[in-house]
This record gives sequence, structure tokens and C-alpha cells, in this order.
Amino acid sequence: MSRSSGRHFLQIPGPTNTPLSILAAIAKPTIDHRGPEFASLALDVLKRIRSVFKTEGPVIIYPTSGTGAWEAALVNTLSPGDRVLMFETGWFSTLWSKMATALGLRVEVIPGDWRSGVRAEQIAEELLADRKHEYKAVAVVHNETSTGVKSNIEAVRRAINDAKHPALLLVDTISSLASMDYRHDEWGVDVTVCGSQKGLMLPPGWGSTRFRQKRSKHRRGLA
Ligand SMILES: Cc1ncc(COP(=O)(O)O)c(C=O)c1O
Repeated sequence: MSRSSGRHFLQIPGPTNTPLSILAAIAKPTIDHRGPEFASLALDVLKRIRSVFKTEGPVIIYPTSGTGAWEAALVNTLSPGDRVLMFETGWFSTLWSKMATALGLRVEVIPGDWRSGVRAEQIAEELLADRKHEYKAVAVVHNETSTGVKSNIEAVRRAINDAKHPALLLVDTISSLASMDYRHDEWGVDVTVCGSQKGLMLPPGWGSTRFRQKRSKHRRGLA
């Protein structure tokens, strides 16, 4: 067995290295998860995480990795057979589109070159051509961890608005939230998806979503 000297330093795109202050907090003695101390801690976290998403509304946290939050975003807003428009920015947008297909959604992926972000004008073109409003959602990755490509979410929102299309906007911020400028409310995002171990620099194990409540009522039961 090999012995490592010094502190292990993980050099992959994620999990990112957890800061020592967080590791120290994790090393504190366990508290009763049904006691008042935990309840107040959890409520405080749920209240204060809103500012990270730059939203006034509630954020939902799940015991899952980012993949589980992807699934939560899809199954809580869409129904089997719904059309979804996605854009290929790299490995993670591809995986998300595969998951959507596996869940019974009809996925249209605009091909990309893995070197540039979402081309909002192509989203607009697709939506303008969709006269019957069959697309129920546009789902994109803000920061494609696999390629380092960042997409302009405001431009995607504008494209949806300019096309006067009712599709929901779902955004994966798993490696961008807390590391890059991201504004759920101001940018008019309907569902923001996040995980803990990349932009947030926490250990893996919790995923989160922020749903814009008014727009998320179409679901008729996916999965
Ligand atoms: C942009 C992006 N989306 C989705 C995922 C999947 O998240 P997880 O590995 O936590 O399931 C990752 C990381 O692996 C990611 O970087």
C-alpha cells in the first residue's frame, strides 16, 4: 500500500477541495438530528442559502448528488412525452439530456462543439418555429465543468421571452453557483439546479433546487 505524505490535494474538476473551516465544522460532535439545535441550524441554512441563489424564495435541499437534483428538476416540472430543448455544451449537458430521455421526455438537443456556450439565437429560432408551444422547457448548463465553457443565461431567458414562448427555463449551476455570478430571480430562471461539491466547495452529498412556484404547476406525473 502506498503512503502519502502531506495533505491530500484532489486535483479534479470536482469535488473541489473543501476549505479547512468547513472540515473543522464537520469535525464537531454530532448533534441530535431531531432536537431543537438541529432544527434551528437547518432553518438558518435554508434561510441564508437564498442569498447564494440570489432569490427571495425557498430553496429545496435533497440528500443526493447533483444528478439527483437534475432528476428532481425534471420530474417536478414536466410530464412524460413533453418536449424539452437542450444545448450540447459538453459532457454534463449530454448526460442531462440522456437522463431526460430515460425519463420519457422528448428531447431535442442542439448540437454544439464543446468549445462555446449556448447560442441563444438558436434557442430563439427553435422556439419561434414551435408554433404549437410543444416545448415545455429549455434546459441548459451554466458552467460546463467538462469543458470550462460558460453560457449566458440572461441571453437564453431573453431568447425565450422574445419568442413569446411559455417554456420553462431550467439551469444547471452545479459548478457555477457561489463561484460565478448567478442570479436566479433577476435572470428569470424557473428552476435552478445545484450540487454541493463544486462551486459551493462542500463535500458531495446534497443537491438543491430553487423552483419558481408559479411556473411549476404543469406537472402531470413523470416517473
Ligand atoms: C455541471 C455539472 N452537472 C452535473 C453534475 C453531476 O453532479 P454529481 O456528480 O454531483 O451527481 C456535475 C458534476 O459531476 C457537473 O459538474
